[in-house]
This record gives sequence, structure tokens and C-alpha cells, in this order.
Amino acid sequence: MQKILVTQPMLPELEDVYSQIEEIWTTKWLTNMGSKHNELEIKLKDVLKVNNVSLFNNGTIALMVAIKALDLPHGSEVITTPFTFAATPHCISWNGLKPVFCDIEPDTMTIDAEKIEELITPNTSAIVAVHVYGFPCNVKKINNIAKKYNLKVIYDAAHAFSTEIDGRGIGTFGDITMFSFHATKLYNTIEGGCLTYNDDNLVRKIYNLRNFGIRSEELVEEVGINGKMNEIQAAIGLLNLNLYKKEQEKRAKIKEFYDDNLSKIKGIRIPKMPNNATNSYQYYPIIIENEYPLSRDELYLKFKQRNIYTRKYFYPACHDYECYKDNLQNRVLSIVDDIKHKVLCLPFYGNLSTSDLNNVCDILKMD
Ligand SMILES: Cc1ncc(COP(=O)(O)O)c(C=O)c1O
Repeated sequence: MQKILVTQPMLPELEDVYSQIEEIWTTKWLTNMGSKHNELEIKLKDVLKVNNVSLFNNGTIALMVAIKALDLPHGSEVITTPFTFAATPHCISWNGLKPVFCDIEPDTMTIDAEKIEELITPNTSAIVAVHVYGFPCNVKKINNIAKKYNLKVIYDAAHAFSTEIDGRGIGTFGDITMFSFHATKLYNTIEGGCLTYNDDNLVRKIYNLRNFGIRSEELVEEVGINGKMNEIQAAIGLLNLNLYKKEQEKRAKIKEFYDDNLSKIKGIRIPKMPNNATNSYQYYPIIIENEYPLSRDELYLKFKQRNIYTRKYFYPACHDYECYKDNLQNRVLSIVDDIKHKVLCLPFYGNLSTSDLNNVCDILKMD
């Protein structure tokens, strides 16, 4: 049987890529805020419904810069979720800050806003929350807490491209939001990402930090990094802007197929998107509850034996990592410790055929 992976990148037609590359070859402008870069920044403002967009070479550097741009006190504590990709807590740590892990909500699997306040100390400076799988965090509650305790809020929206909450772009909540455009993401620029933010005063700061802190030929203002997106990445991004909606439509149909086939299976829970938010269609996670005849790990292996590569995304959780295992200091995160053993992301991309989908569902139905 042909290998089925958990995702497959959205790719523009090769001829379209060639013609973009021809243009780049003609201008010989390969990187450093070229015309394709600038065009993509402008177009993404509309797509994401945000005030400001700054493009980056990847989401991790973007998140590093987002945290740096807010000038948080060195060594201060940042409350975050352990149910995320390694990049989230690592960006906090690389900024000389301490990630403090908070438990998650069982339904959306995002940070449990009800449990944030009890973790706040005089040393807390920020909250970094993740719209995991595209499920939106409780932005209202997080905003109220941030206001009450004077904390900065950064959202990791790596999985939430184009998601809207009550018709508002998800990148407009908090101080800064990061999107990843990695090849595994619904919308990709091969590698890439961006920051979105409402505050126009951050434009110059983020521009500088992304470009080594260089302001002009003879003025280096601060300790920056190289976070620039190049012209080939931006060209792919421009082409993929024409394709992502179609990909989302295909994934919506696949979600419907999975929902219809899996919702009646005892022991399989399908997490639901809140009614006031749109779906990015980034992942299709299911929860393998105790009533299911196989454990999540047994099921994962069963899929693998049939050449289907699901993902235990996110297992291990970040508080299990060698570098963070002392972070909890005897605190117990009971929801995430349960869900990390039960969650499984199924293959989810537009090109999956009906026979692929039937194969996945038959394995889950134990046929
Ligand atoms: C939740 C989350 N945050 C951050 C990142 C990092 O983004 P990038 O790969 O673009 O550096 C990823 C994935 O790649 C992610 O899934």
C-alpha cells in the first residue's frame, strides 16, 4: 500500500513558480525586503484582517522576535501551554525568560484561562498562548487577566491561518500574534512566518530586530537577528495565496467524511471548534478514550503497519522534555497528562483520495 503521511504540502504549478523565478532572476533582488516580500506583506493584511504584518524566514524566529520586541524583564516568568510544539517554550527560553506551564482545557486543548491567575507571581511578565490545531484560545478571559495584572500577551497561531473569531482576524488579539508558513502548514512559503499586531509603534521595532538591529547604513540600534524572508519564499507565498481557500474547501469535505464515519465509534472523541470561530483546517485530531478497544499507541502502530503515518501530536508534552522537566516543581497538569496519551492526528490534506479515507476509517472501525 502507498505511504500516507499526516500531511502533504500545498504546491503551486511548476510553470507559475518558473515565471516567478524568472522575474526574480531579472531583477537580481533575492532577499532583504524585495518587491515580492513587500507585496506579500500587503496582501496578507487583507487575508488575515490585521493592521500590521511583518514577514519572517520562519515562525520560530518570528516568535523569538515577538517576545524580544516587548522588552520583558530579563529572567521574568512567562505563563504558557505545554501542549504545543517545542518552538513555543524554546522561544521564551532563548529570550532569557522562564516558561511556566499551565494546564489546558479538555475540549479546545488550549491553555486553561481559568488556571492562569493562580500561576501569576510578582515576577510574571507575559502570557504566550497557542491556538493549538487552530482551536482559538479563550481570548476574552486572557485579555482580562492581562489587563488586571499588566501582562503582555503573545499568541502562537502557527496552526490558525485565516481563522476568525466573531468575524475578527485571530491575529488581532493580544499584543502580537505569530503565524508559521512552514511546509507542513495549510498555507506555506516552504519555510516562513509572520507577526501581526495592532500597535503601529511596533512596526519599526520589529523591522529592526528582524534585520540585525540595523536602522540605516551607519546606525545599529539594538541586538537584532536575521529574520528576513527571501524573494523565493515570498513568491511561493504569493502563488499559494491563490490556492489556500480551495485547499480548505477540500479539507472541509474530508473533515465531513471523517466526522460522519468516526463520530459513532465508541471511544473516539472528535474535538469541536467553538461556534464563534472559523476552522483553519490545519489538523484533524481525535481523542482515543479509554472505552476504545486499543490504546492510542497501539492504534498508532496499527496505522504504521498499514503504511499510514498518523502523528502523536503533541506527545511528549513540553513539560516532559529533558530541558523543562524540573520546571513544574511538583505541580501536576492532569488534563494535559491525560490528553497527551490519547490524542492522534489523522492524515489531513486535500489530495487524500476516498480510498485513502476509507482505509483510515476502516482501521478505526476495527474492520
Ligand atoms: C505551535 C507551533 N509553534 C511554532 C512552530 C514553529 O514554526 P516554524 O516551523 O515556522 O519555525 C510550529 C511548527 O512548526 C508550531 O506547530
